[in-house]
Amino acid sequence: MSFRHLVLVVVIAMGAMPAVAADINARRLITDDCTGCHGNEVFSRQDRTVSSMPGLKARVRNCTAVAGVDWSTDEVRAVIEYLNERYYDF
Ligand code: HEC
Repeated sequence: MSFRHLVLVVVIAMGAMPAVAADINARRLITDDCTGCHGNEVFSRQDRTVSSMPGLKARVRNCTAVAGVDWSTDEVRAVIEYLNERYYDF
């Protein structure tokens, strides 16, 4: 199998597993763009402020705005899903 074919197979496989791809992507986005003001500890601390899915969406939108990141709608959604799966569980 040539390298070009291998790349194609990997791309198709990733397309078939959007959740997994989104997870990896979201973790990287958070590490790269979201650690300027707080770390991951705010998502799991005892007195965390987010208490609902709409609240989480609003908070992430707010934070992406103040962070000045240039994320796509899909990237924002992937991060919200990742935070919910990993920390909040709404
Ligand atoms: C400019 C500073 C800043 C940056 C950059 C930032 N945040 Fe925040 N974030 C805050 C502040 C301030 C709070 C509220 C902390 C508190 O209540 O003590 C917060 C809280 C949060 C919470 C709620 C935690 C809880 O209490 O449940 C989430 C979720 C969150 N941020 C996500 C993000 C994400 C995703 C990014 C990356 C786009 C990000 N933040 C980057 C300032 C920032």
